[in-house]
Amino acid sequence: MAPLWLIRSSARVFSWLRRGAVRVRAWLFARPRLGRWFFVELGASTEAGYRAFNERYFASFHQQERMLADGPRMRFYQAAISRHVQPGARVIDLGTGTGILAAMAARRGASQVYAIDHSDILKHARSLAVANRVQNVKFIGKHSTAFSLDERVDVILHEQMGDCLFDESMVANVTDLRDRLLKPGGLILPSCFDFYCEPVKLRDYRHVPFIWELNVCGYDYSSLERNRPQEPGYYHLVSSDLNLVEHFIGEPEPVLSIDLHTVIESAMPRDITFTRTVLRAGRMDGYAIYFRARVDNDLYVGSSPLDAGRAPHWGFRILRCDRADFNVGDVLEINLSVASWPELDSWRWRLVKRTRAERETTAGMVAR
Ligand SMILES: C[S@@+](CC[C@H](N)C(=O)[O-])C[C@H]1O[C@@H](n2cnc3c(N)ncnc32)[C@H](O)[C@@H]1O
Repeated sequence: MAPLWLIRSSARVFSWLRRGAVRVRAWLFARPRLGRWFFVELGASTEAGYRAFNERYFASFHQQERMLADGPRMRFYQAAISRHVQPGARVIDLGTGTGILAAMAARRGASQVYAIDHSDILKHARSLAVANRVQNVKFIGKHSTAFSLDERVDVILHEQMGDCLFDESMVANVTDLRDRLLKPGGLILPSCFDFYCEPVKLRDYRHVPFIWELNVCGYDYSSLERNRPQEPGYYHLVSSDLNLVEHFIGEPEPVLSIDLHTVIESAMPRDITFTRTVLRAGRMDGYAIYFRARVDNDLYVGSSPLDAGRAPHWGFRILRCDRADFNVGDVLEINLSVASWPELDSWRWRLVKRTRAERETTAGMVAR
């Protein structure tokens, strides 16, 4: 039997090693570029894991009904299809869900619609098409990357936009079909996207500061700053509430615009630095992530937190940052760096400098 002192000191060493391993794991998780060398789930199988999730998620009536009941979204697609799908067109509907976009294209006179979906919702799409007497739609229960045809089509329809635009693998899925199955000069609907990352102030009564920024009735939480959580999810907030954001700090502008007809995913920028001149003085609470999809100059749909006509089923994200206060005329230089666009957990943001009107530089204002 081992002496007591040996058992005790082994237990201490094990506990010390376990705590060390937990810390290293958290540290690596917060650094996805490095972490993917150590965690299989952050590397090659992330895509497989996401596909399985996506397939299950969209099988439910609840997710489909949220999208179908979104008036601005459905009006946008109906107008886009009636303007741009010509009678006789051959069409792919990537991710047909309940088959609504395929049905719109068929009713517009498409001679053939290939309606693809990898989720179990497809069986309901089939029965809905029969119940609605929709013709010329062929349903295919596959992931789009496994779908092939011996013809090229005139139009690819899709709704692959996630809350953060890129988080449903839109670019990879659509460009794969574009390169293999779209005629030269063929149309992708929608194809043009503006992506926003706007500094915002939240309404005072809705704003939740980081815990270490709090002082509640004289009880000071600042000592918790050294325990900043390492999980990326702690720094994101999801909402679709039009009462959350009080205002944009500067004038909104897209930080990235893409056209799916031409974009190459591997060439998309991964490191974006942009500036905003402060138009509204006061506190800044984070960055609102939202998007706008455009078909024509007068036909778009978006998820801006300050647009009363926004499509409500898309949430916007607030990337939280440390409290910062600004004066009108200050210039904010913001950096967004992204290891992988579809993985929000791999995004990092920093306010690398703030410059007042007189261009004083304050170095080291790191948001995260
Ligand atoms: C946002 S829903 C849109 C559904 C429908 N098009 C609509 O507008 O109501 C996306 C659908 O695409 C499917 N999906 C996502 N990625 C896919 C892929 N690569 N191949 C096949 N189906 C996919 C999902 O299962 C889901 O039903």
